Amino acid sequence: MNKKLTTLGIETSCDETAVAIIDRSDNRLASIIDSQIPIHSKFGGIVPEIAGRAHVERLPEVISLTLDAANLKLTDLDLVAVTQGPGLVGSLLVGLSYAKSLAWGLNIPLVGVNHIEAHMESALIGQSTISFPILFLVVSGGHTELYLKQSFDKMFRIGGSRDDAAGEAFDKVARLLGLGYPGGPAIEKLASGSIAKYKIPIALDDSSFDFSFSGPKTATKNLFNRLNKDQEVIGDIAASFQESVVEALYRKVKLAIEKYRPATVGITGGVACNGPLRSKFANLASEYSIKLLIPSTMLCQDNGEMVAFAGLRKYLRDEKNDLFHNFLQLDALPSWLPTDS
Ligand code: KG4
Ligand code: ZN
Repeated sequence: MNKKLTTLGIETSCDETAVAIIDRSDNRLASIIDSQIPIHSKFGGIVPEIAGRAHVERLPEVISLTLDAANLKLTDLDLVAVTQGPGLVGSLLVGLSYAKSLAWGLNIPLVGVNHIEAHMESALIGQSTISFPILFLVVSGGHTELYLKQSFDKMFRIGGSRDDAAGEAFDKVARLLGLGYPGGPAIEKLASGSIAKYKIPIALDDSSFDFSFSGPKTATKNLFNRLNKDQEVIGDIAASFQESVVEALYRKVKLAIEKYRPATVGITGGVACNGPLRSKFANLASEYSIKLLIPSTMLCQDNGEMVAFAGLRKYLRDEKNDLFHNFLQLDALPSWLPTDS
């Protein structure tokens, strides 16, 4: 095989049809994120059936646009990486089926990638030296998870949300406040000119490493129902809710730093695009003299580059793995959490 290892990454686990191509040295040759936000926003959230159908319509063109942007042909590809789970089953199946056909037709290997691991690995893109242990917080629309990675192949889950993911809570509160979908950016925008003057309780403020965002979401709803609905009040509710979510994440990461003393903290996923969250964690990292890795907003949200990067790493660790070459048996895994190793 040609050793350039030009890798195509395909991400269709949720509402982004995202494709990227990287080379063996992790250089991004092209990356396109085709968002379905305009399609779902009129429903106030993601409609799974519509998401799956939109991936079917968009994926072939997004792949071909990505190849054009990288100035490559299909036959230049050496490896395909695709999100295998977790995510919406219909959406995952579109990417996985397309990836299988492509790899089969080109007679090249295929790597199934865990979406949460891909988010974590996105923090490592472009890092020439990596200091372990790394404490990862993945904070997205579907997940809020804490992991400790002790070496390249040793990792375990510390905790996570017991109910809503942080991004899901942002989206639900935004819908309540009439701010549309996706909720995170809308709440951040409105909150920036407002005051966090209401007290939203922090759930599970204890010594566990778990989160709960369902209670704070209901507390916000009760507050909203009690108050008048003028713009200033809505802004202050948005700011108060945002502050409580960021504070809840901050407290548990701080607790995990105290217990596990990581050398690096990586924070990724769509919610990590949030400005106040980024600055609060920057202060925390400098307080503990820890290296903080929060990727660019393009890499924090769902994207194909993180899938290509995680897939290429996985392939390089275990090139002879049968599954990379006999991939037709790979199934979509809608609830697949990274396994402890
Ligand atoms: O990682 P992501 O793109 O998709 C999933 O894997 O879920 O995350 C999407 C989530 C949505 O819930 C969205 O509201 C949230 O990330 N989000 C934000 C911000 N930008 C996106 N939440 C808070 N502040 C933001 N600026
Ligand atoms: Zn994601």
